[in-house]
Amino acid sequence: MGDQPSRWWKSAVVYQVYPRSFCDASGDGVGDLEGIRRHLDHLAWLGVDAMWLSPFYPSPMADFGYDVADHCDVDPLFGTIEEFDALVAQAHALGIKVLVDFVPNHTSDQHPWFVSARSSRDSPRRGWYWWRDDRPDEAGGSGPPGSEGRLPNNWRSAFAGAGRSSLPPAWTWDERTGQWYLHQFLAEQPDLNWGNPEVAEAMAEVLRFWMRRGVDGFRVDAIHCLGKDPGLPDLPSHLEALPRSATNDHPSVHPVVGALRQVVDGWPEPPARMMVGEVFLPGAEQVVAYYGTPDAPELHLAFNFSPTFAPWDPVEWRRRVDEVETLMGAAHTWPTWFLSNHDRPRHRSRYGSDARARAAAVLLLTLRGTPFVYQGEELGLEDAPIPAGGRVDPGGRDGCRAPIPWDGSGGHGWAGGARPWLPWPPGAGGGRSVAAQRAEPFSMLHLYRRLIAARRSSPALSTGSFAWRPAPGGVLAWARRAGSDERFVAVNFADRPARVVLPAGTWAAEVGTGAGAGRGAATFGGAATFGGAATFEGAVDLAGDEALVLRPAGPTR
Ligand code: NOJ
Repeated sequence: MGDQPSRWWKSAVVYQVYPRSFCDASGDGVGDLEGIRRHLDHLAWLGVDAMWLSPFYPSPMADFGYDVADHCDVDPLFGTIEEFDALVAQAHALGIKVLVDFVPNHTSDQHPWFVSARSSRDSPRRGWYWWRDDRPDEAGGSGPPGSEGRLPNNWRSAFAGAGRSSLPPAWTWDERTGQWYLHQFLAEQPDLNWGNPEVAEAMAEVLRFWMRRGVDGFRVDAIHCLGKDPGLPDLPSHLEALPRSATNDHPSVHPVVGALRQVVDGWPEPPARMMVGEVFLPGAEQVVAYYGTPDAPELHLAFNFSPTFAPWDPVEWRRRVDEVETLMGAAHTWPTWFLSNHDRPRHRSRYGSDARARAAAVLLLTLRGTPFVYQGEELGLEDAPIPAGGRVDPGGRDGCRAPIPWDGSGGHGWAGGARPWLPWPPGAGGGRSVAAQRAEPFSMLHLYRRLIAARRSSPALSTGSFAWRPAPGGVLAWARRAGSDERFVAVNFADRPARVVLPAGTWAAEVGTGAGAGRGAATFGGAATFGGAATFEGAVDLAGDEALVLRPAGPTR
């Protein structure tokens, strides 16, 4: 494909597994590693190249695993390290690479490092975290020691928790040692101090531990939070109400990420290992900095969240694609695309219809960059409604974490009859289960499979160049090209039909999002005029919210 074969992540499709909600094999209502292993055939059938496993490490689960109490083991809830090894071995045998979640910004407050750090100001681990004295009177402090009037600064943590309207401070008072500790997320997630070289070395060892076990790379949690302004100054008042984790982007982060890159790139055994980082900052211009420079590379890939905030609107989407195309054209800055994950409402819920979710899948899988599919989006799952009092996540993200229904039976393929830890998503007993959609050739599931197969067979779609093509209002159209291979993609964001002018030549429908036979689908509600062998010259008609991928069926210009 004209690219270094070792950079497999450029042409890969990555599937995110949220282990708590994928499949329960043990019968306790929480998904586990064995449940994932039993369903690897689903990933292989779908055609993905890699999976990213959200945390399965020992954890008190205050943040459902993102509060890590031991970076180098498996929580008994999820299984054993032997089961992890079996999962990796079987995934590799199926040609699926494995990424694990690396959580470097914080540990659990139950991690032995923090237990030691808070035991005494003299602990050898004290400087592994951020500690500050009470704000003195001269600096505006007031009230008794450890009271809100004496917080070291105005930073807020990330989650309001139930029954609170504002975000709590990013500091918690430690009574025993008489100082505050910093946590950009929950109080149960104290921030590590990456200015301390011992922290950097201990965390590099964590990367080596998992590479020794055969993982192919890492999804790096909240990576933009690692660098801190050492003076820990107050935020300006217009940013004061935001979680500190959404604005923290200090330049000291970049050498830290560069050093992590060296650990990963330095791993001697093939295949090359990679890091994709979560950079939860507002725009692509901030995200691109985390790729580093050609001489000082940082992340291999970075998540850009801005598209997950885009409404179903061609102007908004075009602006976000333009940002990426303008800023991420250099060889060391390959983009990523994702529509949903375990922290954001699902795009099927955000966009409000199957037709739009199907068209959005075409965006995800045909824009220039590495796509990440979040478990269940291939079924068109919506967020589960969470009954009053049923909320368990301090960040209110339960709906998008609902369990995957494997079949239409009462237990939906989960073991044991125990009720899962969250309610089933809508339609679990109807058309939304894996089994139901496997049996329906024009289901969302088959659409994802066809799109992934189309990418795999086309260098243009997987790693080729990108260029906009003229399109009528409401439609975005673009071309992808690699050498002589070319694809034309059109997405209608409007709910009315649109005629799209095609580049010269004869074109054949490769994948379409409509409902019937023919171009992978006929139109929703429109005339099903296209047979499987249909070709087009001059123009093609799209139904409302329809998307189409076309390949040359004869000479093009
Ligand atoms: C981002 C993770 O995706 C989210 O689930 C978690 O709560 C925070 N980082 C803190 O680790």
